[in-house]
Amino acid sequence: MVDIVNKIIILLSKGMANRKLYFSDHPRVDSYAAEIVDLANEFFYSNNSRQLYIGIVDGFFVYDGKRVFGPSVTGKRLIALAKTLHCGGFGLQRGINVGDIKKFFDITALKNIPVKKLADARALLKNYGVVTINIGDIYTDNALSSVGAHGKVWEGQVVGKGLESPSFMYQEIYDFVSKAYGNAAAGTGVNVEQAKSVSEFMLKYIQTNFADVMQYVHYPDNDSYTVGHSVRVASLAIYVGLKMGWDDNDLLSIGVAGLLHDIGKAVIPDEILLKKGKLTKEEFEIIRDHPRAGAEILMEQKGVSELDLAACWGHHIRYDGAGYPDVPLWAVRHPVTALLQVCDVFEALTAVRPYKPALEPQVAYSIMLNDKGAFHPGLIAAFISMVTVYPPGTYVRLTDKRVGMVVEVTEVIDRPNLLVTAGEGGYPLDADSQYYINLNEVENKDVAVEKLLLDYLD
Ligand SMILES: [Fe+2]
Ligand SMILES: [Fe+2]
Repeated sequence: MVDIVNKIIILLSKGMANRKLYFSDHPRVDSYAAEIVDLANEFFYSNNSRQLYIGIVDGFFVYDGKRVFGPSVTGKRLIALAKTLHCGGFGLQRGINVGDIKKFFDITALKNIPVKKLADARALLKNYGVVTINIGDIYTDNALSSVGAHGKVWEGQVVGKGLESPSFMYQEIYDFVSKAYGNAAAGTGVNVEQAKSVSEFMLKYIQTNFADVMQYVHYPDNDSYTVGHSVRVASLAIYVGLKMGWDDNDLLSIGVAGLLHDIGKAVIPDEILLKKGKLTKEEFEIIRDHPRAGAEILMEQKGVSELDLAACWGHHIRYDGAGYPDVPLWAVRHPVTALLQVCDVFEALTAVRPYKPALEPQVAYSIMLNDKGAFHPGLIAAFISMVTVYPPGTYVRLTDKRVGMVVEVTEVIDRPNLLVTAGEGGYPLDADSQYYINLNEVENKDVAVEKLLLDYLD
């Protein structure tokens, strides 16, 4: 069902966009309306219900009490419309027809929608003769404003049911972080409570599907690499923290700090942040100020913990106390901050940047280990043993030329458990024929990993 809801959200948004460009009877507008009718009917018949209600809570789509992942980017138009209409969602009724949807599109294309409250919006729909689409009250349970309740909303999203693909999850988290950075840049505050619930969700997902999450780790960022970087740092840090058996409190903090650690960069002008040439001394100082600036932004937000702040503030402080901001010699760092620093550097080295290719983990480790005093020795050792030279989610080629995705690291650093995705001739296997292998089993003793395939998915 979620699949149909997803599609309808996207079609409604696309239909609205096209109605803005074309007249009401344009074939494109017609075809979007017709597709929506077909899908809605499919929904009504298979569900035996009279209404399909798409709710909007706190800027996200909700269906049947659960977050709908996926369409939040394409669906922005529909979310904005709900705001304009002062409503909390759209109900498609059984019997919905192309005519009604087109009238609905007509309203959305108005230059100024004359609506001050929900009753006005309902009257407007009625005046236009829209019968089979109605609009609902704004959801007032305030469920998304407190951590506990918000957590529940995320909990309701059963992994593997409404969540067809981890790319959706990655996109949602990515959306959240990019919104947070946008808000910080605009000076409108950052929703730390939401960062917590996102971290909580990541924690759950990473527990079982870390490899799936990490597959998306090498996604290149289109405009700002800070956002993707933050999501990846948070994922890595949660994974390593989980493996070390840290308690939930520390894990949530490292998630929040990972997602928001570079938030101070949001207030640095792009001319400096993305400058190609050499930075002046002043510019360099501005960049070095981002941990402090970030902590300052976080300090003003509701629900921020001391640990979140400390981690953000201290993520560029080295084990030997060098780095920035300046710290007194006696300062003690919390392991959360120290782990964040390790993940931050590892991510930066292994990610693609406009000015450099991705380094293999092994190369990153040797750079990190050669930088004496940079990292907490115990933590970096733990990190290497858990992320290894073939991190979960990466693809490797075996000596017999099969290709597999690393699903799990084992006690042997270069012999991970794999999902074989291409056979010996290198031919991709379809989803049903893919299979798992454990390289530490006797029957596999003659095969080994030959090469890490960094660009395999591209
Ligand atoms: Fe940073
Ligand atoms: Fe960073």
